[in-house]
Amino acid sequence: MTTPPAPVPADLEALAESVAREAADLALAQRRRGIEIAGTKSSRSDVVTQADLAVEHLVRERIEAARPGDSVLGEEGGEQLGSGDGTDGAVTWVVDPIDGTVNYVYGIPVWSVSIAAAVGGRVVAGAVVNPSTGEVFTAAAGAGARLDGDPLHRGVEVPELAVALVGTGFGYTAANRAVDGWVAGQLLPRVRDIRRIGSASLDLCMVATGQLDAYYERGLNPWDHAAGGLVAAEAGHTVAGLRGAPGGRDFLLAAPSGLWEALHDTLATLFDDPRGTRPPT
Ligand code: IPD
Ligand code: CA
Ligand code: CA
Repeated sequence: MTTPPAPVPADLEALAESVAREAADLALAQRRRGIEIAGTKSSRSDVVTQADLAVEHLVRERIEAARPGDSVLGEEGGEQLGSGDGTDGAVTWVVDPIDGTVNYVYGIPVWSVSIAAAVGGRVVAGAVVNPSTGEVFTAAAGAGARLDGDPLHRGVEVPELAVALVGTGFGYTAANRAVDGWVAGQLLPRVRDIRRIGSASLDLCMVATGQLDAYYERGLNPWDHAAGGLVAAEAGHTVAGLRGAPGGRDFLLAAPSGLWEALHDTLATLFDDPRGTRPPT
């Protein structure tokens, strides 16, 4: 039996974009009708809306129709293995139907539909759509990143840590938040300022556009960073974890090279011994 040809990243990017655009329209239409909470997950802050479920359902249907046999890992529906799993070139789609659900619920116009395609565990294509602004970010491995079709490139100037605008986020569990909040508090006097945007995928796209100088977070899931991470990387930024590890659940930092190293070293020290230098209470 002959091995099917490896999928072309640009084709996967185009599919991710068209599905994300349709999904974004659905999410926006549902938001205009109101909010229906379907349940909570890791904590009371971690809500799931009917829109999260409906959007992920639509995305799964469209991917199945376009590329039957591909696997899908979605935040709300878990992993559905395709018939192509285990073969060279098998594609896994990594889907966050609404990234920034708390913003979505409160009517803050900063949330996205995020869809990535991974081959052999490596993200090769992705699309992030902000339905409130209409911005469409896409990327394909080795073929650059785009905003509304125009190429995104990092700026030549790399800001020093002291004047860097740094995005971050906090997971949903109270224990992690206590540490993350302490680390952010220690970082704050050393940078220009900190932003907590509320959508990891858009944080990463904002690094790509230069609206943030850097972004870091602990505790991310693959669907939070897969597509946005590729957009930032293809725009020329370093996207990685602590001490040579790939970016992921333990830690992910995106920034232009130069700033990345300075921020990495500062954050590694703070996360290593988060309470060690805290003044006695
Ligand atoms: C969350 C957002 C948030 C980040 C959290 C994510 P969700 O995703 O991306 O900005 O700080 O870690 O879980 O729950 O809105 O899809
Ligand atoms: Ca998310
Ligand atoms: Ca989500």
